[in-house]
Amino acid sequence: MAKTDDNPLKNIIAHTKEYGYIYPSSEIYEGLSAAYDYGVYGSELKNNIKEYWWKSMVHLNENIVGIDASIFMHPTTWKASGHVDAFNDPMIDNKDSKKRYRADNLIEDYVTKIEAKINKEVDKAKKRFGDAFDEEQFRSTNPRVTANQQKIEDANSRLKSAMDSGELSDLKTLIEEVGIADPVSGSKNWTDVRQFNLMFSTELGSLAEGASKIYLRPETAQGIFVNFLNVQKTGRKKIPFGIAQIGKAFRNEIIARQFIFRMREFEQMEMQFFVKPGEEMHWYEYWKEHRMRWHKNLNLGDANYRFHDHLNLAHYANAACDIEYNFPMGFKELEGIHSRTDFDLKSHEQYSGKKLQYFDTQANESYVPYVVETSIGLDRMFLAVLSSALQEETLADGSTRSVMKIPPALAPVKVAVLPLVAKDGLPEKATAIMEDLKFDFNLQYEEKDSIGKRYRRQDAIGTPYCVTIDHDSLNDDTVTVRNRDTMEQKRISVAELKAELHEATSINRLLKQL
Ligand code: GAP
Repeated sequence: MAKTDDNPLKNIIAHTKEYGYIYPSSEIYEGLSAAYDYGVYGSELKNNIKEYWWKSMVHLNENIVGIDASIFMHPTTWKASGHVDAFNDPMIDNKDSKKRYRADNLIEDYVTKIEAKINKEVDKAKKRFGDAFDEEQFRSTNPRVTANQQKIEDANSRLKSAMDSGELSDLKTLIEEVGIADPVSGSKNWTDVRQFNLMFSTELGSLAEGASKIYLRPETAQGIFVNFLNVQKTGRKKIPFGIAQIGKAFRNEIIARQFIFRMREFEQMEMQFFVKPGEEMHWYEYWKEHRMRWHKNLNLGDANYRFHDHLNLAHYANAACDIEYNFPMGFKELEGIHSRTDFDLKSHEQYSGKKLQYFDTQANESYVPYVVETSIGLDRMFLAVLSSALQEETLADGSTRSVMKIPPALAPVKVAVLPLVAKDGLPEKATAIMEDLKFDFNLQYEEKDSIGKRYRRQDAIGTPYCVTIDHDSLNDDTVTVRNRDTMEQKRISVAELKAELHEATSINRLLKQL
C-alpha cells in the first residue's frame, strides 16, 4: 500500500479499508457519499469502545442506569425539543463552483487559518530568541500577532451575534468583508445564507392508512428525557442520578466530510445526569473532569486533548464545552458536555401535559430537575483511536512496518495463535491452546506464510500479542509471546498464558485505573 506522510487521514482511510476496519457503504454500486460500514475488525473495535464507555458509566456508577430507546419517537417530541424550529444550519452556495457550505464553518475555518498564522509567528520567534523567549509578552505586544488576534475576536463576536439573532444576512456580510473564498475554486461569488433543517423525515404507515410524518432521531438524548419518570420510578433512583444510552442518530448534514468524522448516520453515547436546580455547575465541572480522565486513561497522548468552551450556547444550555481531540485534520470536537438546565423536561411537560417532576423527600418539595449531559460520538472516538494508533515504523534492519498501536483493551483481536510450521503436531498443539483461550479472548489462528510475514499482518491489524508454538512447545509446554509495540519476545509456560494475557488486555484493568 502506498503511504503518503503528508496526508495521515488518507493513510487511515486506505489502511482501514485494506485491513477490514471500514468499507465504503454499498461499494459495489460506487458507494454512498459519507456512509460507511464497519468491517471484520472495525465492528469489534466499535464494540470494545462501547463496552469501555458503558461499563465506566453504568456499571461503575451506582447512580447511573442504562436504557435503549427506539429511534422513532412521537413527532411532538421534536417540536418540544426545539429541533423542528431550531435545528438548522446556515447554508451558503458558491455560484461558480456550485459547492455548498455551512456559513459558520467557513468563518470558523477562516479563524483557524489566522490562529495558524499566529502560531507560526510565535514558533519563529521562539527559535530566534531561544531560552530568553517570553511567549506571553510576545503574544501581547507583537503588532502582527495582536492585529491577527483582533481579527479573530471580531470574527468570533460577529459570528456569535449573527447566530444568536438568526440574522443570516450578517453572516454573508462577514464572509464578504473578510474576503472568504470558496476553498475549492477560490471564487468569492456567494449566494445568500439560508437555514437548512438537519432532521431526516419519513412516513409512518402506508399512505392509505393516513400516514404521518415522523423523524429519525437527530440525538439519542430525547429518548432519555421522555423516559425520565419511567426510569426514576422503576430504577428507584434518587437525584442526582443519570441515564445512559448508546444508539444511532441521524442528521442531514449539509456537507458530511472527513471520513467518519461527520456522517449523516452515526452513533452517540450519551448520558443525562439529573440534578437539583442550582447544583448544575458543580456537576458540570465534575463531568468535565471525569470525561477527560476517561479519555486520557487510554493513553492516546495527553497533549492531544483540550477543552473548548462554546461561544454560541445552544437554546437550551447555560454552559457548554467540547472535549477536542487532535485529529489528523487538527483539533476538533470529540465530545460535548452541556448544562441543559430544565429546558427539555419543562418543554416536554408543556407539550405532553404530563408532570415530569421529582419529589425531593429531603427538601419536601417537587421540582423539574436540571440536566448535565455528556455526549460523545462513537465514530469520532473510533477515529481518535485510529489516528493515534496507526504508525509507520522504520526498524533497526532498515525495513518498515505498519503497526496499529491500539490500546490492547480495545484491540479487535487480542491474541494471534501461530504454529511455527503447519506440521509435526504444532497445529494440533496450537488448536488445544485456542480451545482453552477462546472463551476469554477474541483470537485469530494463522498457519500460512513465514512467521515474520504473519507478525507483520497482525501488527497491521493491531493484535497486541502473538503466541507462537514451536517444536520445544511440544516437550516443555512453553510458548513464545511477542509484544506488538516493543516486538520483544518472551518464553512463558502455557499454564501462565491466560492470566498474563488477561492482565495485559482486559477492559477491567482500564476501568480500575479510572
Ligand atoms: N445531545 C447533544 C448532542 O447531540 P452534539 O454536540 O450535537 O450534542 C454530540 O453531538 C456528539 O455527537 C458530538 O460531540 C460528536 O462526537 C457526535 N456527532 C455529532 N454530529 C455528528 C456527525 N454528523 N457525525 C459523527 N458524529 C457526530
